[in-house]
Amino acid sequence: MSQRIFLTLSIQLILSFSIFATAQTKSVDAEGLKWWQRAVFYEIYPRSFADSNNDGVGDLKGITSKMPYLHDLGVDAIWISPCFPSPQVDFGYDVSDYENIDPMYGTLADFDSMVAEGKKQGVRIILDFVVNHSSDQHPWFINSKSSKAAPHRDWFIWRDGKAPGQPPNNWISTFGGSAWKFDPVTKQYYYHYFYAEQPDLNWRNPAVEKAMLDTTRWWYKRGVSGFRLDAVDTLFEDPKLTDNPVLPGINKQGDPNTDEIHNKKLPEVHDVLKKLRKVADESDAVLIGETWTSNIDELKEYYGSHDNELQMPMDFMFTTVDKLSPPEFRRQIAQVDSAGGWPVFVISNHDKVRSYNRYGDGKNNDAIAKLMGAFYLTLRGSAIMYYGEELGMENNDPKRKEDVKDPIGRTGWPNEIGRDGERTPMQWNTETNAGFSKKNPWLPVPPSYKTRNVATESKDPNSVLSMYKKVLVIRHTNEALVNGSYTALNEDDANVMSYLRSYKGKAVLVALNMSASPQTANFNLADKGFASVTLKSLVATPQASAKGTEVSLEPFGIFIAEVSK
Ligand code: NOJ
Repeated sequence: MSQRIFLTLSIQLILSFSIFATAQTKSVDAEGLKWWQRAVFYEIYPRSFADSNNDGVGDLKGITSKMPYLHDLGVDAIWISPCFPSPQVDFGYDVSDYENIDPMYGTLADFDSMVAEGKKQGVRIILDFVVNHSSDQHPWFINSKSSKAAPHRDWFIWRDGKAPGQPPNNWISTFGGSAWKFDPVTKQYYYHYFYAEQPDLNWRNPAVEKAMLDTTRWWYKRGVSGFRLDAVDTLFEDPKLTDNPVLPGINKQGDPNTDEIHNKKLPEVHDVLKKLRKVADESDAVLIGETWTSNIDELKEYYGSHDNELQMPMDFMFTTVDKLSPPEFRRQIAQVDSAGGWPVFVISNHDKVRSYNRYGDGKNNDAIAKLMGAFYLTLRGSAIMYYGEELGMENNDPKRKEDVKDPIGRTGWPNEIGRDGERTPMQWNTETNAGFSKKNPWLPVPPSYKTRNVATESKDPNSVLSMYKKVLVIRHTNEALVNGSYTALNEDDANVMSYLRSYKGKAVLVALNMSASPQTANFNLADKGFASVTLKSLVATPQASAKGTEVSLEPFGIFIAEVSK
């Protein structure tokens, strides 16, 4: 080997080693955590967050203008529901161009400014990648539909009917009716798990896979820190199109119930997630999954056998504990905590009735909203908030079918009223339309905005917002709350949910009264390695206090304390 070649090779080796070393040090901090493990995430439904041009629909400039608010609140990353060009049949979840911004929300330049302002304020951007389907207006589908020989024909799932006028099999769209739509031009059916305007992409086609992976690369280069992957359960279907078993009864849309074993959660999903993860790792990015798992084994699988799939599969099983039940919560947390990955807790989103209504008892909703915030934001794992949750925003459901915007609410009315109620504009102040827009917003704000808004609640130390802010401060500053292990305490207590978060000899105790009557809880922390300790309050409701290790709590009271030796 000539000296020159040897020298070049050595330099290359040193260079690649140091690049690798930088990537490694960049992704883990001194305490061994990745950035997303420390982060509090916040979902923004862009139509409803802030309307900078007063056309009744939110936009990216609006989001940028609220970065200081997000920073002060204690948000580290925002997940923006789809803001790409879209005919808006499913309000953005029908994408007609994966690499652009819908003019209704602004431009790519606005996007870049948002990323830049986010950087200044310490707020990262996570986009919502609709991986299962595109819009029927995407050029890929327009081409696919044009003829059986079209270059993009096999980018979607086309099949002959079973018999004249009959779809290929009995698969049902989750939004109602058959999951197959007949196209008179080529006389075949195409498959759509969601609306007919959302044709499923054919992930068995390597060209589709390449295009989608390239899209993620394109956004990473633009400064995105990760993706929330939409509807990952539905990426693959049985190529033999086996009928799903029919179950008793009908669903809210009036279709027969079926067990979707042949068109959901197929093992091939995991191959795609591994590939998406490989690309994400090159940019130190995070993948959050919309994973509707029905048991803990399914959730475990989404992390990947070698931490090589989703870093953050969302645990929606937590949200199915829809009542304030310490035993149920304990069971669920214990399972998720032992699943081997980093837990992810969510209590509301744009598809679910707001947590304020779901957990509220109709009389103590504010106290319960504070309690729920103090609860899931102090668990081990990442939390994903939903805009307005920090205010105790309530659902504002449509009262008449003609007011419904969400298509499933129109086809399913009155059994299924749709998701408008949880998507109403963010409530900023007491001005018209809650300060969201000068023009009538696309969805109405509820009358309660007069007291439940950022401006008013910021001035009230006892507001839901103030409680969220206090909890978010300690969550960022107390290492035990970020990095500490989770140990359930007093597991027989049916009213007080309590646990210890401990890290390197330090601990935080959380005690939450999930009942409407005053409660006292005694803690024996000696067997947890904390003998003769005192409890020093970090965040508490006005009447919560401790005498030694005995904690008294008012109805729905909160007591979060440092355990001092
Ligand atoms: C899940 C999204 O959260 C929901 O809003 C959407 O309608 C479906 N996926 C289809 O994309």
